[in-house]
Amino acid sequence: GPLRLLVLGASLRTGSTNARLASLVARMLSDAGAQVDLATMREFDMPLYDGDMETAHGLPDGALALRERLERCDAFVLSSPEYNASVPGVVKNAIDWVSRVRPQPFKSKHALLVSASPSLVGGNRGLWALRVPLEHLGTRVYPDMFSLPAAHKGFTEDGQLSDAGLQERLRETVTAFLSLVEADVRYVCLQRR
Ligand code: FNR
Repeated sequence: GPLRLLVLGASLRTGSTNARLASLVARMLSDAGAQVDLATMREFDMPLYDGDMETAHGLPDGALALRERLERCDAFVLSSPEYNASVPGVVKNAIDWVSRVRPQPFKSKHALLVSASPSLVGGNRGLWALRVPLEHLGTRVYPDMFSLPAAHKGFTEDGQLSDAGLQERLRETVTAFLSLVEADVRYVCLQRR
C-alpha cells in the first residue's frame, strides 16, 4: 500500500503559519502518492509533564492520541515554530510525554523537520534544537531541513509559497525525503520475508 505520513503543525495558534506550511507539505506528499494524516498540536491537548500524574494516572489522553497517530505512520513531518532560538515548550512537552511509552514511538521513525517564522532565518535554529531530543530517542531525522522566512507574507491565497524558488526547494526536499522513506520501508519488508 502507499506510505503513511503524519504531518504535524506544531503550533497551537489558529492562524499558525506552521499549520499552513504543514498543509502545503501534506499536499505535496499526496501529489507524490503518499497517504497523509494532517494534524496540529491543537488536537493533542495535554498538561505539563508531571511524574506524580504519570504514576497515578499514566499518560494523559492527548499524549496517548499522539502516540497512536505516530504508531500508525511510516514516517512523520514536523512543522515547528522557533521560540527563543529553540524548541517551543508545547513541542518539547509532547515529546517528553510520548517518550514514556514502551515500545518508544519515536524510535527508528524517519522524520523531516520544517519551520515557518516571520524572521529572515525562518526558525532554522529551532529545528537544530529539535534534532537533539528526537535523535536522542532514535528518530532518523532527515539531514536536510526547510525553513520558510517572512512566513506572514510567504503564502499565496491558495496556500502555495509566494516565492517560486522556495516552493521548488520545498518540493525537492519533501520528495527526496519520501524517496528515502520508501526505499527504507521496502528494504525492511524484504528483510522480513
Ligand atoms: C517567537 N518568535 C520567534 N521567531 C523566530 O524566528 N525566532 C525566535 O527566537 C522567536 N522567539 C519567539 C518566542 C516566543 C515566546 C514567541 C511567542 C514567538 C516568533 C514566532 O516565530 C512567530 O510567533 C510564529 O508565527 C510562530 O509560528 P506560528 O504560530 O505562526 O506557526
